[in-house]
Amino acid sequence: MTTPRPETLAKLTPVLTKRWLSPDAWRIGTYEQLDGYAALRKALKAHPDDLIQLIKDSGLRGRGGAGFPTGLKWGFIPQGDGKPHYLVVNADEGEPGTCKDLPLMTHDPHALVEGVIIASYAIRAARAYIYIRGEAVHAARRLRNAVQEAYDKGYLGRNILRSGYDLELVVHSGAGAYICGEETALLDSLEGFRGQPRLRPPFPATHGLYASPTVVNNVGTIASVPPIVLGGADWWKSMGTEKSSGPMIYSLSGRVVNPGQYECSMGVTLRELLELAGGMQPGHNLRFWTPGGSSTPLLAAEHLDVPLDFEGVAAAGSILGTTATQIFSDQDCPVYATYRWLEFYHHESCGKCTPCREGNYWMVRVYRRILAGQGTHEDLDTLLDTCDNILGRSFCGLGDGATSSVTSSLQYFKQDYLDYIEGRTAPKLSEKTLVGAH
Ligand SMILES: Cc1cc2nc3c(=O)[nH]c(=O)nc-3n(C[C@H](O)[C@H](O)[C@H](O)COP(=O)(O)O)c2cc1C
Ligand code: SF4
Repeated sequence: MTTPRPETLAKLTPVLTKRWLSPDAWRIGTYEQLDGYAALRKALKAHPDDLIQLIKDSGLRGRGGAGFPTGLKWGFIPQGDGKPHYLVVNADEGEPGTCKDLPLMTHDPHALVEGVIIASYAIRAARAYIYIRGEAVHAARRLRNAVQEAYDKGYLGRNILRSGYDLELVVHSGAGAYICGEETALLDSLEGFRGQPRLRPPFPATHGLYASPTVVNNVGTIASVPPIVLGGADWWKSMGTEKSSGPMIYSLSGRVVNPGQYECSMGVTLRELLELAGGMQPGHNLRFWTPGGSSTPLLAAEHLDVPLDFEGVAAAGSILGTTATQIFSDQDCPVYATYRWLEFYHHESCGKCTPCREGNYWMVRVYRRILAGQGTHEDLDTLLDTCDNILGRSFCGLGDGATSSVTSSLQYFKQDYLDYIEGRTAPKLSEKTLVGAH
């Protein structure tokens, strides 16, 4: 196990995670003792437009994967339009490897509740929803309990802290479909329909929930709002890089000694994160990794020093995504890992558009063939051709994301594919998997 050096330990910037280890951190009493709801008191004295400007000035970018500037998104909500406005928090967190929102809601649910109230006040919403993954029963229980505590203390409901501002907050559990994390599918699901993406434009900013102006933001995005209100835009920008400001929760999983969440200034490298996590497990050497979940192109050992911010990861040919770094070693097979992810995308494809529905179905079959030792060289061209027909031609990001590990594993680890095809690697799947492949 590697012990982190002091200069690497200094890379830790606990802001969203700072209360997680406090006893009963999820209770309102603990939260209030540790600065809780101080930002709300400050925010309610400010003009909503000034809060939107503050978030713009902080440079906060969405933590849900795409990194869209949050203040800009809030600014798109038309004002004085006479329609109800909604804030919807995306707490679906279904991306394989991603585990930053559920621990946040489990350990520090009031951070999200306080962020919801401030964000709703800024966009002039009187009703907000938190859409949480159906399987996350424990987190949902904590969250519901926190919402009730906030109502009891007058932070939610009518005339919040005697400011004249009213807000109702509903926690809604989904049914556990990855596609319901896509913001427009989420809105359909919330409205009671089958969760499938909507055609855009119109965008949720004007035609969102119940065809009204809606902001959809990730849990981490909204939980970042209270610290920004308290600390100010310059303090927030003192962490991170010029275009990727603030701290970020990086989730390390896989072949590391201490997997978990490490909150660091954006721009930290995997080399530093690995040091914080105690290094690779004994006997394992880094071979490949995802910088931000299974929808982001794989990176290899040569990318250990890539700054993990939006620009740095893009320059290395991948995407920062949800900062879910899944670590694989020389004892793991990139072909098999990619196959497992594809099974996931194939299963979770909502079926609305042909490239994703059919393409993932076929790619799974090709992978099964290769892994059963019956692949051909032509299969590799078929995979690339199929990806070419999915990427940029699918109705939503799920299809695009499915191709990421296929194309990147072929880019970096083609030899592993050839070893299966040319019989140098023993088959991982039996021929039975080819019969009746669904
Ligand atoms: C298939 C798919 C799944 C997604 N799942 C999530 C999710 O679980 N949580 C999330 O915040 N964003 C998810 N997103 C991104 C959302 O569509 C949206 O961009 C995000 O909630 C916006 O919030 P932000 O601006 O705060 O990042 C997903 C996107 C796609 C295409
Ligand atoms: S890309 Fe896949 S998940 Fe998205 S709409 Fe098409 S079929 Fe549905």
